[in-house]
Order: sequence, then structure tokens, then C-alpha cells
Amino acid sequence: MAKKFEIGNITLPNRYILAPMAGYTNEPLRKMAREGGAGLVYTEMISATALAYNNQKTFDMLPRDDSENPLALQLFGGDKNIILNAIDFVEKEAKYDFLDFNMGCPVPKVMKQEAGSYWLKRQDEVYDLLHSMVQKSHKPVIIKIRLGFDKKHINAVEIAKIAEQAGIKALAVHGRTRDEYYNGFPHYEEIAKVKNSVSIPVIANGNIDLNNIAEVEKITNADAFMIGRGCLGNPLIFTDLINSEEGKPFIEHTLEKQINLMKKHFDMIINYMGEYNGVRYFRGLSVLYVKGFDNAKYIKNKLISMNTVDDFNSIIKETKDYYLK
Ligand SMILES: Cc1cc2nc3c(=O)[nH]c(=O)nc-3n(C[C@H](O)[C@H](O)[C@H](O)COP(=O)(O)O)c2cc1C
Repeated sequence: MAKKFEIGNITLPNRYILAPMAGYTNEPLRKMAREGGAGLVYTEMISATALAYNNQKTFDMLPRDDSENPLALQLFGGDKNIILNAIDFVEKEAKYDFLDFNMGCPVPKVMKQEAGSYWLKRQDEVYDLLHSMVQKSHKPVIIKIRLGFDKKHINAVEIAKIAEQAGIKALAVHGRTRDEYYNGFPHYEEIAKVKNSVSIPVIANGNIDLNNIAEVEKITNADAFMIGRGCLGNPLIFTDLINSEEGKPFIEHTLEKQINLMKKHFDMIINYMGEYNGVRYFRGLSVLYVKGFDNAKYIKNKLISMNTVDDFNSIIKETKDYYLK
């Protein structure tokens, strides 16, 4: 059996977690990941400020039923009062198990609000913010951080200690600085330093896959592992990680399996976004399902130019008729 993992008093079925990804970890992807074996899934980051302005698009991002449990709802924001009000709001309007706070996002739009990884620069204010969030929230509060703002200001250990004192129940660490964005290789040894400095669970993150998970576990000694981009087009990555931990053989991802997963995901997206937006949205994701297969280029070219549900279904049919016989 794969090891279970506890945050606060909630037991997660395994240690493999779907990372929050803006634009991706909407309900359909979360469900794909859950069915693919993920022990915990996160929403996309949800703007506390947008909730304060009753922004409909943001409101629509809130998870509303119990079917996705265990689920972490991630908020971001730069203003303490707005964040605390957002907690009141999501407690009334959304269903989730953990409240996550984003302290890692590097994008300029978020920096401008002094939110996301900008909080790593606001170290003196972090205790007050997190403690207030913990006091306010009826759900366990967890955070996601990076190593620091830049190479000269690595403060993940300090932030982790402050978070633990403030009552945070777990933290995920993306092993890069804000300035590194997604470039270069993550510094797993820095995640190990965080793990050694606190008693709350530490979740390692950054380029983790089936090939390096054993090494990442050895270096970081982390309690759990968070996978982001590796799940796109490959929701079974969680099953692979569980099988690998349990010493079971790798189950090949055949083209047929990938096509069936893609179709399932596509149907959920259409249901969620409607045909016009859903088909356009899914173009980019669909190609990831067939990446690496013979003839993928031909199928990809068709997928990136599809316009309707019928287009998609004919591509699937054609692929099955020609390549799977
Ligand atoms: C498209 C995209 C969107 C992301 N959005 C978020 C987000 O909303 N909140 C967050 O904390 N991290 C976000 N991240 C960072 C991921 O959660 C994760 O830390 C990062 O991708 C590294 O993990 P990976 O190598 O497994 O993808 C995003 C990453 C990507 C690629």
C-alpha cells in the first residue's frame, strides 16, 4: 500500500498531489487527476480582491460540491483585510477541505499587488497575516512558497518557521526562487533545509516525475510530492507514482488509453465551458495527450485547428480507425 499522509487531522490517501495551476486546475482537470490517483488536488489561484469586487468569473472558479474532496482552495492577495474578507466569503460559498495561501506566484500582475511571491519580501508581515488567517479560517490553512525572492534572498526556512508558529498546517515548497520563474533545475537541497527546520508536513515541488521521485525523496525527505505540468496530458502520473512506490510494474500508456483519457477530459471541459470556449481551450491540452506517439504530428495538427465538438469526435474516430487497428 502507498503511504498515507496527514495534514492537520485530515488523512490523505497517498502523498501525490496535484499542484495549483492558473488556467488549468479547473474542475475537469481536478477530476481527471483525482481519478488518476491524486491524493489531494488544488484549485487555480483565486483572487481575494476579485471576490471583493464580486467578479463573476472568479466566483465561477469556486468549488461547490463535495465530489472533489480532499481539495485545497488557493487564495492570493496582497491586502490582509481583503484576504480575511475573502475567507468569510469562500466559507459561505465554496466547498473545500484546506485553505491554501499563494506565496509563490512570480508573475508581474500579481507582484503589482504585492501578492504571491512578493510576500517573501514582506517577511516581517507574514506572521501577522498567517496568524490572522488561521484565526479566521474554520479549515486548516496551508501555504505554498518558493525558496525566496531571488538568489541573494533565500528565506524559505525563515518563512516556514514563521508559518509553523502562526498555525499553518503544511507547506508546499517550489524549489526555485521567484526570479528563476520556471527556469533551470529546482534546488531540492534547499527544500531539505525547510524540511529539517519545521515539524509540519513539507510538500516538495518542481519538475517531479516518475524518473526522479526516488531521488527527490532521498534529497528532501519531504512528506509529500506535488506535480504540476507533469499531469497535463498525463493524469495517470499519480497512478504511476503510486505503482512505483508499491513496487508494481509500470503500466504502459498506450495511444488508445491516452485517446480515451483525452476524450473523457474533453467531454468534461465542454460540459464545463460550453462548446465554443471549450473546444478552443482544449486545443492546447489535447496535443499533450498524444505527445510522443508515432503519427502524433498529424493528429496534433488536426487537434490544434479543431473548431467544434464534431471536429474533435471525427479526429478521435479517424485516429482509432487508422492507428489503433
Ligand atoms: C501554467 C501554470 C500556472 C500556475 N499557476 C499557479 C497557481 O495558480 N498557484 C500556484 O501556487 N502555483 C501556480 N503554478 C506553479 C505550480 O503550482 C508549480 O509550483 C510549478 O509548475 C512547478 O511544478 P511542476 O514542475 O511540477 O510543474 C503554476 C504553474 C504553471 C506552469
